Amino acid sequence: MKGRPRPHKVLAPKGTVAPRALLLVHAEELVTLRGPPHARRGREMRDLAVIPDGALYAADGVVRDVGPTDELVPRYEAAAQVLDVTGKTVVPGFVDPHTHLVFAGSREHELEWKAEGMSYQEIAARGGGIGYTVSKTRAATEDHLFASARGRLNAMFAHGTTTVEAKTGYGLSVPDEMKLLKVHERLQDAHAVTLVSTFLGAHAVPPEYEHRAGEYVDLVVREMLPTVAAKTAARFCDVFVEDGYFTIDQARHVLTEATRLGLSPKLHADEFSDGGGAVLAAEVSAVSADHLVHATNEGIRKLAERGTIAVLLPASSLSSRIPFARARHFIDMGVPIGLGTDFNPNCWTESMPLVISLAAHQLGLTPAEALTAATINAAYAVGMGDEVGSLEVGKRADAVILDVSDHRHLAYRIGGRVVDAIVKDGRVAKRGAPERI
Ligand code: NIG
Ligand code: FE
Repeated sequence: MKGRPRPHKVLAPKGTVAPRALLLVHAEELVTLRGPPHARRGREMRDLAVIPDGALYAADGVVRDVGPTDELVPRYEAAAQVLDVTGKTVVPGFVDPHTHLVFAGSREHELEWKAEGMSYQEIAARGGGIGYTVSKTRAATEDHLFASARGRLNAMFAHGTTTVEAKTGYGLSVPDEMKLLKVHERLQDAHAVTLVSTFLGAHAVPPEYEHRAGEYVDLVVREMLPTVAAKTAARFCDVFVEDGYFTIDQARHVLTEATRLGLSPKLHADEFSDGGGAVLAAEVSAVSADHLVHATNEGIRKLAERGTIAVLLPASSLSSRIPFARARHFIDMGVPIGLGTDFNPNCWTESMPLVISLAAHQLGLTPAEALTAATINAAYAVGMGDEVGSLEVGKRADAVILDVSDHRHLAYRIGGRVVDAIVKDGRVAKRGAPERI
């Protein structure tokens, strides 16, 4: 089923029988994010459409009704498992629109190099960075990669992520990129979290193509893309545009060909320098442009004109010790903003709540803007805005029950335990439940 995420299995936690219908009642705030069917911009990002003392009724994994508790109880009480969430806030499940989920090894040793003051590029030149992870990933079996990625998905789910985008990019050869795409497909079949697959063959030039980047781009375009488009569940194609990685012209070539083959374009743009990435993202009608730390005013204006979503990744700024993106400027210019973890071996966080609080404390977003960016806008950034990202009738019943009585605490608290339980496709899992697949 190419081009769309596969329907995935959701199994009840061990020893429980999942009921077909669920009624959540007495949410202090039921944050629905009901609104226009597009990524929210400007003032729209502040409208969470909160229902006080709210209730949500889900059946067969789908939201069937939302409203005040006193209205929904008489309608559905008899037919559903009723969960009283008095004192808690209910928000849509988080959508993490940018992760590099599948790789082998880890790079904790780079922290010592960072402590010496080395930059991302210096670490890469010393044999660290993407190249290090590529060598570990090439040596790993598909089963090993599947098992480690499954564990990471469990951790993301425990933090309230119910939909995640996952990129390849640590294989960088035809068989190794296909191995990573296969892992994405196995996770789609096996794990409760909804996974959207992205092909990032142009993540770095592999060592056997050193000084021959053009030839590697030819391999990506002529061999990888047709196979990926024809034989895998990948829905997006991404390119890392940066000095020492890929140029604007190379990225344009890859993304134009990807579009012709039915993959939607995305871009790692303007992360460490202004490379014209935002402008290119608008030119190729990318669904999202990500990072954007050094995006120019012209680039930002073009993203706004095109409606391209700016996926900002503040945890990545933190881990690479680079500036934070000018988020307020993006919002003022009318660019819809999404937020993601950028989970990868250089930025190891599975936590969207942490990203939301970084967005409030370092990007200058309001708690409402940050929550909009981490849910409905992130959903549009992965092409799933009509299915997830808000608690509206007809959408998947994916929600997070927060142990706080006001949604602002999500942004306010830094790294604490705010998630109480997760609802995925209408079924409830407690945060601490160890195994969910
Ligand atoms: O999004 N910038 C490029 N790719 C990743 C980092 C990958 C890595 O360092 O392994 C990112 O930050
Ligand atoms: Fe990334």
